Amino acid sequence: MMRVFKVLFAIAAILSTTFAWHVCQDEPFCKELRSRSTSKFTVDYDSFQENCFSGTLVNSINNQNYDLNITFHHDDVVRIRIRESNAEIKPIPSALLDDLVVGKVFCSVDCDSISIVGGNHQAFVNFTDFSITTTNLITNDVIHVNGARDMFVGDSLALKVTFENMQNAYGIPEHGDNLKLKDTKNDEPYRHYNLDYGYYQTESRESLYGSVPVLYAHGVRPEGESHVSGVFWHNPAQTFVDIDHSNNSITVDFISQAGTLDLFILPGGDFKSAVSNYVKLTGTAPLPPLFAMGYHQSRYSYLTQEDVLRVAKGLQDGEFPLDVMWLDIDYTDGKRYFTWDYNAFPDPIAMQYELSQRNLRLVTIIDPHIKAENGYFVYDQMRENGYYVMNPDGTIYQGSCWPGLSSYVDFFNPDALNWWSSLYGYSTYANTTAIVHIWNDMNEPSVFDVEEKTMAWDILHYGNIQHKEVHNMYGHMQTKGTYQGLVNREEGHQRPFLLTRSHFAGTQRYAAIWTGDNIATWEHLRVSIPICLSEALAGISFCGADVGGFIERPSDELFQRWYQLGAWYPFMRAHSNNEQDYREPFLYPEEIQGRFRTALRQRYAHLPYWYTTWYEHQRYGQPVMRPLVYNYPNDENVNAIDTEFMIGDNILIAPVLYEGANELDVYLPEEDIWFYLSNKEQNEFRVISSSHVRSVDMDSVPVFYRGGSIIPRKDIVRGSTQLMQEDPYNLYIFAKNNNASGTLYEDDTVSFSYQSNEYNYLSLTFDGIKMESKAIDTFSSYNGHFSIGSVFIYFDEMPSVFYAQAVLTSDGSTTKYPVLQFENMLQIDFNTVIEDRNFDFVLKYLSVN
Ligand code: NOJ
Repeated sequence: MMRVFKVLFAIAAILSTTFAWHVCQDEPFCKELRSRSTSKFTVDYDSFQENCFSGTLVNSINNQNYDLNITFHHDDVVRIRIRESNAEIKPIPSALLDDLVVGKVFCSVDCDSISIVGGNHQAFVNFTDFSITTTNLITNDVIHVNGARDMFVGDSLALKVTFENMQNAYGIPEHGDNLKLKDTKNDEPYRHYNLDYGYYQTESRESLYGSVPVLYAHGVRPEGESHVSGVFWHNPAQTFVDIDHSNNSITVDFISQAGTLDLFILPGGDFKSAVSNYVKLTGTAPLPPLFAMGYHQSRYSYLTQEDVLRVAKGLQDGEFPLDVMWLDIDYTDGKRYFTWDYNAFPDPIAMQYELSQRNLRLVTIIDPHIKAENGYFVYDQMRENGYYVMNPDGTIYQGSCWPGLSSYVDFFNPDALNWWSSLYGYSTYANTTAIVHIWNDMNEPSVFDVEEKTMAWDILHYGNIQHKEVHNMYGHMQTKGTYQGLVNREEGHQRPFLLTRSHFAGTQRYAAIWTGDNIATWEHLRVSIPICLSEALAGISFCGADVGGFIERPSDELFQRWYQLGAWYPFMRAHSNNEQDYREPFLYPEEIQGRFRTALRQRYAHLPYWYTTWYEHQRYGQPVMRPLVYNYPNDENVNAIDTEFMIGDNILIAPVLYEGANELDVYLPEEDIWFYLSNKEQNEFRVISSSHVRSVDMDSVPVFYRGGSIIPRKDIVRGSTQLMQEDPYNLYIFAKNNNASGTLYEDDTVSFSYQSNEYNYLSLTFDGIKMESKAIDTFSSYNGHFSIGSVFIYFDEMPSVFYAQAVLTSDGSTTKYPVLQFENMLQIDFNTVIEDRNFDFVLKYLSVN
């Protein structure tokens, strides 16, 4: 009976939450603009006389004028803005960083064109048939911004951008589809419209929960050299994106429902510079606290205080490393956020105390819909101050969500945003302590029982902004307020952790994301990789999928594979919906538990590498999780690979993604050599230098280390990240032609003091004889405990050593250590505290010959 009920419930849930794919034809603006092609725009020559980079565009059919503005930023990024002259200027927030650097330009005006040069880039504006051609003066990459189409129809707008000599396109998340973008010429465009899309399909270009309108075009020249450029369409309205691969070029057509035209051309060269040009505009993620890189355990919902503590204890007793327990909506008093259900959670402070004794954190959920009920303090304050989203007539908007009838906070109102931040203070969000971090969900925003389960277009925000003008940014604005609120909390000033479902360009500055309500299927296991890879290229590296799938129960095999893959997501959280039986790792038979444990331990052993990669992400903007094409853009074999991925420069993961697999086809870029852990017991790595089919079993997690790298690890895995803080670093040196290099970053893992130079960032180099550690920033220093455990040196060609010794030089002393010899590895067990991070050791060989 219970089973029948569950099935009926599941069917009802599917019917209420799935949508048919909303295609271009369904939206009059898209249908109209997609079919128009003739240009009617010319540039008014005289308007360019005074100021070379702003002028007037004229629509010759109706004589409507538009203001055209071209600026250069950070030297090479070209920004093109076009807005109807005299149009109402609304306070629509920007997704950009506040401090865009405006570059110097040189202009030369002709009678029918203007040439603007900034940095290594030229923008050539054609006056008679409006178009802009940008040329990278070093790489000769050419991009056309094509006025040869109707750009503005009513409120909506569109623009074509063509990248010459390019073959592949990437980016524009979030879609449940492959990494390499498809041609949409004879098919449906990709859609950007943040939606609460339950039971989402894979192989679909329909919108999911977030939208980041940045696209990269990649090509390989006949000589074999690759080049990459990008384009960022800075518009938070519903947008369709067409991609055409004809004529050895990539043509992208952005079609937006509303807003002004604000386009950035991202000259690249290689992927690294194209992505770094993008993050100079929208920012990188601040360095996450170390615990956020640990394992997160969630379910919808842990229903009582005892439940939370029982699960935490179960995991710790079972020796599964764990850092964060999660509370979904049921912890609240009737879905009134910022409150507790005291029947189920009689003493939240005592619960938090016990969690903190276990070195754990707690994440609680706070959604943007506010129960419409007089007497509920959040609702009262929102109503009294007018901080709500409005109906077109200015009255308070109401929609339905978890609490029933609800109103929605207007995060576009700066006062409302400050108020929202203030709600996270310990005095307002009662019974919370510094171990509480936050999850903002349902913020597309989700509104039940209405078309596409979201707010109607004519709903009003602050400053007369219509919802359709900013739809894709609603959740982003919520995270902005939440992040600030967490930073401002009265005590602690610790780095916050925040998870959001809805996101837009720039959300990485505030929050991590996950891929929403996925299903416990192999397709969803696989699609989680390209979703997170596309997000990472679009600046959002902190991404993961619900391990095990949110909807339905994974088979044991699928679940184990998901832990093995999830251990390599930048964000790793197990989560399931409220129809599932409990499925925490310790509830499984010992053999399966063993595999969950191994996966988690593998993650924790690499924490120093994760932490260093995250630091480098926030400093340089390079994605943490990367497609192979990012690191190997010249290798044509990797263009479409999204079943493997890399963390940073040095670790390649080729997870098992198919049911019943006993073989795995692995592609390893030939530019490098790769080391594979071939015998776990003996920590034995073998050089694998080419692609191959390897046999796999349920214990296999094919992970490869790049030859030439030094990977810092901590191999004594303990109950949580915090417990491992003082443990010694083991350095794994994978020598290629006797050389290797790497980096290591450390700080206190939780506070903002790294921003006041309290950190160490070390460069590690090895030349076959000497390994050297040197501070990269001599002005910084962090004086925490630092010790080196063992150093393992793996060689592609093992020197014929007869006897060896290592002499460690640090703090003025030189100590000799024995060197253990294995078949392709030398091991030195230093096990010593090191005061001065500038240290080295030298191998003294006595060679056989
Ligand atoms: C939808 C989210 O996607 C899911 O993860 C969560 O459990 C439910 N909302 C309930 O809050």
